[in-house]
Amino acid sequence: MESYIITGGYRLSGVVRASGAKNAVLPMLAGTVLTARKCIIRGAPRLRDVTVMSDILRLLGAEVHWATVPGQEPALVVDPSRLVNYQVEESLTREMRSSIFLMGPLLGRMGRVRVAYPGGCAIGPRPIDLHLRGLAALGARIREKFGFIYAEAPRLVGTEIHLDFPSVGATENIMMAAVLAEGTTVIRNAAKEPEIVDLQNFLNGMGARIKGAGTDVIRIEGTDRLGGTEHQVIPDRIEVGTFLVAAAITGGELVIENVIPEHVESVCAKLRETGCQVGEEGCGRLRIRAPRRPKAVDIKTLPYPGFPTDMQPQMMALMCVADGTSVITETVFENRFKQAEELRRMSANIKTDGRTAVVKGVAALSGATVEVSDLRSGAALVLAGLVAEGITRVEGVHHVDRGYECFEEKLRAVGARIKRVSDG
Ligand code: EPZ
Repeated sequence: MESYIITGGYRLSGVVRASGAKNAVLPMLAGTVLTARKCIIRGAPRLRDVTVMSDILRLLGAEVHWATVPGQEPALVVDPSRLVNYQVEESLTREMRSSIFLMGPLLGRMGRVRVAYPGGCAIGPRPIDLHLRGLAALGARIREKFGFIYAEAPRLVGTEIHLDFPSVGATENIMMAAVLAEGTTVIRNAAKEPEIVDLQNFLNGMGARIKGAGTDVIRIEGTDRLGGTEHQVIPDRIEVGTFLVAAAITGGELVIENVIPEHVESVCAKLRETGCQVGEEGCGRLRIRAPRRPKAVDIKTLPYPGFPTDMQPQMMALMCVADGTSVITETVFENRFKQAEELRRMSANIKTDGRTAVVKGVAALSGATVEVSDLRSGAALVLAGLVAEGITRVEGVHHVDRGYECFEEKLRAVGARIKRVSDG
C-alpha cells in the first residue's frame, strides 16, 4: 500500500496540463472488440483502470500496446483481429466494474458474453438493471447464475429503448450493442455526458452510423461490419475540475491546459460563485485566480450538464474552509459522502443525512492521517491536505491512481509539498 505525505499551506501557481479522459477511454477500449481492424486511441491516460481494461482485452485475444512517437501524445493501439474469447476475466471485473461495458460489444461481435456480476463499490450498489434491460430489448437472452451474467444473441435487432434514468454506462453499453444490430435503435432519456459524444465519434470513425449523442435521444443505424480508426480522446473534465479546486482551496492561481471549456462550465460557474476568477485564455487554456478564502455556496449534483457528481467530494473539501455554510445534495449516487468522515478527522464541520451534507466552513483544517475509500474522495482528501495546517498522510492512494495520471508530480510542479511513500 502507498500513501501521500502532504505539507499544507502552500499556494499553487503555474501551468498544469490535463490528461485524456478516463471515462471516455474505458468505453472506447471496450468498443474496439466490435471490429477486427486496428484502432489507435491518441492521448489515452496511463491509469490503473486503463491497464486493467487492456489486460481484459488481452485475455479475450486482442493485442494491446502503447505506441510512443516522438513529438506526439502516447497512443494505445488495439488489434482485435484475433479475438477468440467471450468470457471476461472474473478477477479483473471485480477490480474494475467498467468491464461491464464489454457486454454490448461482445454480444455484437461474438454473439455471446459471460461477465462476472460487477459488485457495488464505496459510493453505492451500482446496479446494472438498465444495461441488462436494454440489451434484452435488443434481443439478447440473459441468464444470471453462479455470480455470472450470460448473454447471447445470434443477431441483435434494433428497437426503441427508454432509460428510466440517464445512466452513462447503460447509454454507452446499449449504443455499442446497437452498432452491429439489424435495423435502427433509438435510445431515449439517454445520458448526455461529453464522454458519450466522444464514444459516438470514435465508433463513427470505425464506420458506425450514430447520431444524437449529447442529446437525450440517440439514433443508431445498425451496420454489418466496422473498420479501424485513429481517434484523439477528449481531455479529462474531472481532472480539470480537480485542479481548478486545487487552486481555489490554496488561494492560488493556475493555468490549466488541454481543456474544453464547455465541458467544465458548471464547475467554473460554481467556483465563480465562491469568489474565484475563472476565464478562458484561448487554445484550450483556462486561468483561475482564487481569493484567500472562498465564499460558501450550495451544490446539487445532477447528470450532465448539471454539476457533476464526480466533482462533489472535491467541492466538499473546498467548502470545509469556506466563509459560511454550504448545503450539498448528492442526487446521483446513494452513498457518496465517504470523504466527510475523513475530513472531520481534519477538523472539518460536516453533518450528513442521507443524500444531504451541511458543511460549516472552519478557519483552518488540521493535518491528520486519513484513509481513501474511492477515487474522488481520495482526490478530495489530497486537496484538503494542501490547505490543512501541518502534515496530512493520505492512505490508500491506489484508489487515486485509478483516475489521475501523475497526480503528485503535476501538483508538485505547481508548488504543492506532496510525496508518495510506501506503507511497508
Ligand atoms: C459513470 O459511471 C462514470 N464512470 C462515473 O465516474 C460517474 O460518476 C457516473 O457515470 C455518473 O456520471 C465511467 O464512466 C467509467 P451511471 P456509471 O450508470 O456509468 C444508477 C469516476 O469517479 N444506475 O450514470 O456507473 C446508479 O446506481 C466514476 O470517474 C441504475 O440504477 O454511472 C447511479 O445511482 C465514478 N441502474 C446512477 O444510475 C443501472 O443499470 C448513475 O449511474 C445503471 C445505473
